[in-house]
Amino acid sequence: MRQTRAMTTFPFEIQARDGAARTGVLKTSRGDIRTPAFMPVGTAGTVKAMYMDQVEQAGADIILGNTYHLMLRPGAERVKRLGGLHKFSGWKGPMLTDSGGFQVWSLSQLRKMDKDGVTFRSHIDGSEHRLTPARSIEIQADLLGADISMQLDECTDFPCSHEEALRSLELSLDWGQKSLDAFGVRETQTLFGIIQGSNFEDLRERSAKGVVSQGFGGIALGGLAVGEGHEQMCRTIDMTVPHLPDEKPRYVMGVGKPIDLVESVARGIDMFDCVLPTRAGRHGQAWTWDGPINLKNAKFAEDLSPLDEAVNSPASNDYSKAYLHHLMKAGEYLGAMILSWHNTAFFQALMADMRAHIAAGTFEARRTELSLRWADTKS
Ligand code: GUN
Repeated sequence: MRQTRAMTTFPFEIQARDGAARTGVLKTSRGDIRTPAFMPVGTAGTVKAMYMDQVEQAGADIILGNTYHLMLRPGAERVKRLGGLHKFSGWKGPMLTDSGGFQVWSLSQLRKMDKDGVTFRSHIDGSEHRLTPARSIEIQADLLGADISMQLDECTDFPCSHEEALRSLELSLDWGQKSLDAFGVRETQTLFGIIQGSNFEDLRERSAKGVVSQGFGGIALGGLAVGEGHEQMCRTIDMTVPHLPDEKPRYVMGVGKPIDLVESVARGIDMFDCVLPTRAGRHGQAWTWDGPINLKNAKFAEDLSPLDEAVNSPASNDYSKAYLHHLMKAGEYLGAMILSWHNTAFFQALMADMRAHIAAGTFEARRTELSLRWADTKS
């Protein structure tokens, strides 16, 4: 059954531009998302080691949840019985969920693709499960209650052959249409499509044109941050953006490090998600305006300075590097909690900084400065 009415697209007001960079507001029924936006990853209904209040106060307008993890535990039907993912987790703002395909690809040891979906074994207990485009939409939109759902897609290994990337993107296009058909027309929820095509220019164009013509509420670039490196990621974004409509939000999935965010925003990207702030925090790494530091390093043992005075967060201002060094060396939970909080606040501060510079028409100069400052993090 094909759609008869157009998909609900959240109003997206682009308020200022600087070069290809844009800043604006994506308006959802659960609140405004200031763009460019970074979505903290709340895989299993929690942004790991953080209270939802901290995530909100850090400046995040939207967080991400994962179909794959939640369908396995506690189960999507159970989340629905408990009132949906917003009520269950306590996050009141907009939420985007990923469709599961990428996590099956990266986490499940045993998976079998066919033209209708993917059958896989849980990484938790080995039980067998299946995702189809329609089931992924049911989980995301009906059971979890996502404000923004993602189509089910397939992500290829990197590198992969042209032939394999072509087969895979055609499958993702077919699943995109099936996802749209299952989603139908909803008043307060929308669905984003995902462009694939590995690092092949003709395939990115083919995928982009296909996804754009299908009429989603927003467009994502998938198949990035899979080991291709910063320069190749930038090249892939460059070959894709010219095929995207100006008026829809553009989301690069799974990206990235601060320098990746700056260079993607410079190319006209509006939304991002990445586990980096919280995962790095759990491992003792803090990202600051001066670059990344590892608090486990002995040089911080008696350093009384805070993580970053320029980031407006208690996590960044109120605890010394010496204390965090001690917490990390002692394996105390609080170390991971403070560092995840700080990193989340820093990533939000970076997004706010870019938004302000785009609005002021000074983004290009800021980009050059940050690119030089963080040059050694381009890998
Ligand atoms: N997260 C990071 N990359 C991807 C991708 O290519 N597809 C999906 N669904 N999620 C992602």
